[in-house]
Amino acid sequence: MHKSLVSITDYSKQEILSILESARDFEANPNRKTLDGKVIATLFFEPSTRTRLSFETAVVRLGGSIIGFSDAATSSSVKGETLNDTIHMVSCYADAIVMRHPLEGAARYAAEVSPVPIVNAGDGANQHPSQTLLDLYSILKTQGTLENLTICMVGDLKYGRTVHSLIQAMSHFNPTFKFIAPDELRLPEEYRVFCRQKGIPFTESRELNDNFNDADILYMTRVQKERFLDQIEYERVKNVYTLCNDMLAASKSNLKILHPLPRVNEISMDVDKNEKAYYFQQAQNGLYVRQAIVSKVLGLIE
Ligand code: CP
Repeated sequence: MHKSLVSITDYSKQEILSILESARDFEANPNRKTLDGKVIATLFFEPSTRTRLSFETAVVRLGGSIIGFSDAATSSSVKGETLNDTIHMVSCYADAIVMRHPLEGAARYAAEVSPVPIVNAGDGANQHPSQTLLDLYSILKTQGTLENLTICMVGDLKYGRTVHSLIQAMSHFNPTFKFIAPDELRLPEEYRVFCRQKGIPFTESRELNDNFNDADILYMTRVQKERFLDQIEYERVKNVYTLCNDMLAASKSNLKILHPLPRVNEISMDVDKNEKAYYFQQAQNGLYVRQAIVSKVLGLIE
């Protein structure tokens, strides 16, 4: 029985920690031949830069091969082929499938019909578990621990799938959350209920200002233009927060600024040179974490 990665809740705390430990090994030696003869398919029904290219780099550096598409318009889905049939076809050619899809639940459905493991590379506004594992790896590397941290999440908490996965993953590590969003992009009720059920303290605010001064991690997010049904509403909130360098003066010395990227206007470029900016290293960490994820779903590591 293969083990897909659809939701971060598919992994226990121990499995999460094992992935992070493996990622550390891959970072020390990312070029190996452990995937020799393996074929991985990357099916991207939505645009991507980091997720697709880091998964593909991960596979190539481990000696495996890549097939797939980066634009669904070049696949037979435009002729009306169902996701069921696409997954069945690709599983005839590949040992595992990395898939991004605009529909929430598409990855779970794919995992149910697929004879090979599915890795969810983002399904609508739902989940982005490989991003979460690289976020955790970045937090661990910069803070030396995942335990007892204050994490301030800012921006599009409604549609931001990386936020949803990260809240669930951090629930293993006794966090305190500060959620900062305009009313239109407030964290959905199900995640507030989740925090309450787990006994996780959290606050909510509409204002960024210096509200993150007691935080260890400042997790900025992009307003997810592609999820809005009403573009006028998007225009109203698209520039709601911009983090500038002079806003960081009173932040904690250990603060690191994370962002899943791409950014639009939510982090000013004058932050990039601040030693607290970590988002580009965070994206690089994705390579090692995804080497660990691919190895795990193929059963090559525990
Ligand atoms: N963080 C992330 O998912 O980036 P891409 O959309 O470029 O893959």
